[in-house]
Amino acid sequence: MVSVLQQQEHKPVLLHEVIRYLRCTPGKLFVDGTVGGGGHARAILEKTAPDGRLIGIDWDEEALVKARFNLQSYEERLVLVRENFALIGSVLARLHILAVDGILLDLGLSSFQVDEAERGFSFNLAGPLDMRMDTREKSTAAHLVNTLSEDRLAEIIWNFGEERWHRRIARNIVRARAEEPIETTDRLAEVVYRAIPAGKRPRQRHPATRTFQALRLAVNRELDHLQTFLQGALDWLKPGGRLAIISFHSLEDRSVKQTFANWARSCRCPARSPICQCEGKPLARLVNKKPVVPSESEIKANPRARSGRLRVVEKQKLHEQEEKKEVN
Ligand SMILES: C[S@@+](CC[C@H](N)C(=O)[O-])C[C@H]1O[C@@H](n2cnc3c(N)ncnc32)[C@H](O)[C@@H]1O
Repeated sequence: MVSVLQQQEHKPVLLHEVIRYLRCTPGKLFVDGTVGGGGHARAILEKTAPDGRLIGIDWDEEALVKARFNLQSYEERLVLVRENFALIGSVLARLHILAVDGILLDLGLSSFQVDEAERGFSFNLAGPLDMRMDTREKSTAAHLVNTLSEDRLAEIIWNFGEERWHRRIARNIVRARAEEPIETTDRLAEVVYRAIPAGKRPRQRHPATRTFQALRLAVNRELDHLQTFLQGALDWLKPGGRLAIISFHSLEDRSVKQTFANWARSCRCPARSPICQCEGKPLARLVNKKPVVPSESEIKANPRARSGRLRVVEKQKLHEQEEKKEVN
């Protein structure tokens, strides 16, 4: 087995854009909630030198081993924590930090997670059907595939994978597991492949792509964690602080887009409320109205960047008078 430090490097997506939009300048304090191998983190630490600080969070132990190795020259300005970013509040509380200048989430998987057969994320690599990013969790993809009802499997494959053949795939999974439990990525890929009629299989991608994506989202409860994070995220930003999120599929992006749009509205009272009770102040400002996407040249150099979408918001600055009160 290849050591985690020898695996291929993950190329950070939209790196220059993230650094520019987060306004990384000396002395600032940032959280990278998905530190991975430390690609974005390194650039943030460089731009905030000599005294800026970074808290790097990841729930994957191997990612943290990589980040610790890759970022060793910034050790004094860096804290790495194994945690779910949905629990950012308790991470900051443990470090006695009230608020930060910026937060980055770069959602999804690192290249080294996808490329390691033992992690079970790839239909191209034979391995155990695992797909857990946080290996402290009990439920693997094999557990879901071998225990959930046909209806529930179909629902997951449709909701998280938008796979039109979800019913046939779920039916085939249930039939196949009755013969023998489905324990490996290659067996599941084969079951999905056979479920889709020969003339209807997609040509541009592997027929199991959407099913694997759906199971990965379900195993790691990725949308739930993103939603929990979004509910509290503004509380951890200083006034004028920025939150940047890179998402890789439409379900995540929709969640981010809707939450940001809601923060930016001047009135957030329920539609039927007779009078405005929120005092008509937006909680945040949209820094970019449309998502920033990778350039042609970035996609050429790093095809995995192709579906990346960056959205950024800035927490509302305090009113001038409130600001004065704060200082006094
Ligand atoms: C796309 S990678 C980040 C790559 C990193 N920005 C870089 O440039 O090296 C996403 C990382 O987020 C982590 N991750 C995903 N969901 C998470 C969650 N809810 N809490 C903590 N880490 C998470 C994954 O384990 C993975 O290491």
